[in-house]
Amino acid sequence: MIVTIDGVAASGKSSVSSGVARALGVPYVSSGLLYRAAALLALEAGAALEDEAAVLVLLEGSGLRLEPLAEGNRVWAGGRELTPDLHSTRVDKGVSAVASLPGVRAWVDAQLRALPQPFVAEGRDMGTNVFPHAQAKFYLTASPRVRAERRARERPEDIPAIEAALTKRDEADRRQISPAVDALVIDTGPLDLQGVIEVILSALPE
Ligand code: C5P
Repeated sequence: MIVTIDGVAASGKSSVSSGVARALGVPYVSSGLLYRAAALLALEAGAALEDEAAVLVLLEGSGLRLEPLAEGNRVWAGGRELTPDLHSTRVDKGVSAVASLPGVRAWVDAQLRALPQPFVAEGRDMGTNVFPHAQAKFYLTASPRVRAERRARERPEDIPAIEAALTKRDEADRRQISPAVDALVIDTGPLDLQGVIEVILSALPE
């Protein structure tokens, strides 16, 4: 069984997916981390973020690998763990450009489809594009201000700056961020983390 949890930036997808995955006893898969890793590799190599051929060479040559666990995902480039470097402000800013490259999207999609199932998959297009036959699909939203307030606990910038950056990233990601027609859309604004997890668990098929 595959459960997909998509949504806008900082809508709580990772924490919710981790909680749902733990309740189900399966791993969760963070597709965003692979896009973030692609951006980091390009930034470190000094490659232009729009240079699809250069980014693909970096992806193929780096031994990039997602390790999906219920507690949290880790990303490796060969023996080097990239995970702690994937949530910096410069990766936040650069990731949408890399994620808009069709070749990069095809590369990430292939990595995700090759992972052993079952799992909970989270991202932007898990229910629409990568796993259209998933058994249960969810889409998380919240207002930009609510998301910025949550994200402010993890980033050095102030709330208005974070809100502006999130809105910009949603705009850059707009091609990937529409809910699947068969997804249950959940406004996480009025709910806490456990509340969202419970809504999802109670909506899962038997
Ligand atoms: O989920 P997260 O915010 O970490 O994703 C980082 C970025 O990766 C997004 O802003 C988007 O550009 C890209 N992404 C995507 N498709 C996905 C997951 C993430 O384009 N399925």
